[in-house]
Amino acid sequence: MTGVCGHVKQIAVNNPIPYRYETPNQEPRLRHYHHLVETGELHPDAAQRAVAERLDDLAGALEGYVAPERRRGLFKRKPQPPAKGLYIWGDVGRGKSMLMDMFVTAAPVAAKRRMHFHAFMRDFHAALHEQRKKTEKDAVIEVAHAFADDLTLLCLDELQILDITDAMLVGRIFDTLFSRGVVVVATSNRHPDDLYKDGLNRHLFVPFIETIKSELEVIELGGEDDYRLRELERLEVYHSPLGPDATAAMDRAWDSLTDTPGEPFTITHTGRDLVIPRFANGVGRGAFKEFCEAPLGPNDYLQIAGVLKVLILDDIPRLSRAKNNEAKRFVTLIDALYDNHVRLIASAAEPPAQLYEDGPGAFEFRRTASRLEEMQTADWVKSE
Ligand SMILES: Nc1ncnc2c1ncn2[C@@H]1O[C@H](COP(=O)(O)OP(=O)(O)OP(=O)(O)O)[C@@H](O)[C@H]1O
Ligand SMILES: [Mg+2]
Repeated sequence: MTGVCGHVKQIAVNNPIPYRYETPNQEPRLRHYHHLVETGELHPDAAQRAVAERLDDLAGALEGYVAPERRRGLFKRKPQPPAKGLYIWGDVGRGKSMLMDMFVTAAPVAAKRRMHFHAFMRDFHAALHEQRKKTEKDAVIEVAHAFADDLTLLCLDELQILDITDAMLVGRIFDTLFSRGVVVVATSNRHPDDLYKDGLNRHLFVPFIETIKSELEVIELGGEDDYRLRELERLEVYHSPLGPDATAAMDRAWDSLTDTPGEPFTITHTGRDLVIPRFANGVGRGAFKEFCEAPLGPNDYLQIAGVLKVLILDDIPRLSRAKNNEAKRFVTLIDALYDNHVRLIASAAEPPAQLYEDGPGAFEFRRTASRLEEMQTADWVKSE
């Protein structure tokens, strides 16, 4: 089976709980999910099931609903969608993105979009930049309306607020989307009350939290299992030497963690575009040369680490004195991953201690080698 979780077959399901989805009057919309559980491809999980049922209800309620077109004028009434959207929060690897993906596929709505929250904000900033060239007036609201045009259902994965610019923007964007009757489903690692926690000028952000709590139903996906971690625990994470075996192992790692080919993910940061060559559900993949031969600095690596749960890094070469800049960047990349607890799966020409033995910074590189060793240990992979 090559569906959403083909790899899960290997997870031993002891005494699976009897599983049958019951909806009195209708076929479940997320029947693909229920089917995978019934056939043992997905581990039965009561917390997931509860969320799947809510998503199912929402998908059913959205049948035939189309968010109205923009109406101008003073006394326009806010459209009332047939059901509230959902804000699904919970710890990593619980299956939020997986369920949301299945929901998007199943939702009987033509005008739907599923985006990573980061990509959504990035597109918004780009459109805002263009709009401001035309007029200063209400540019945010205008762009938010443009986003709402032809949109009935917006699914945003991994909602998080990291900087003050976004913290100040999101309230106005979402108010506009809701005023247009757009239904939003979001996933996040945090409860709304904990978004932008301890952020600068947080009080200005609080109305957004209130909007989320009143416009969306907030539900926790609080399962016991981190399924991504289970998968990582089974995988070898450092493949050396380079060659067809290492490449095949890296491909298998990608497949078992994502089940999709993925696509490039662009982070725009201080006016520059950083591209993670392949990305899907928090898992990124690219080659050493793509990350460490380009002139990237500590802040760039922090941005990259910020959107990743796992990095699959191909083809780390043996580094020499002539490659000391690449070695320096590699050190910075590993520091950023390590500090943000991004799991690393790598293929390399040599074991960590022999990657960079001679050249400027080779002494300091020993710490990186030690981190690379530590990042292979089950304890590090498992720790929070
Ligand atoms: N019930 C399950 N049985 C087996 N595997 C599962 C199950 N649920 C999810 N998975 C797998 O676990 C991995 C993590 O799931 P997913 O990406 O949806 O987690 P998440 O809650 O979105 O995590 P994060 O908060 O880190 O984004 C995926 O590869 C997914 O296919
Ligand atoms: Mg996710």
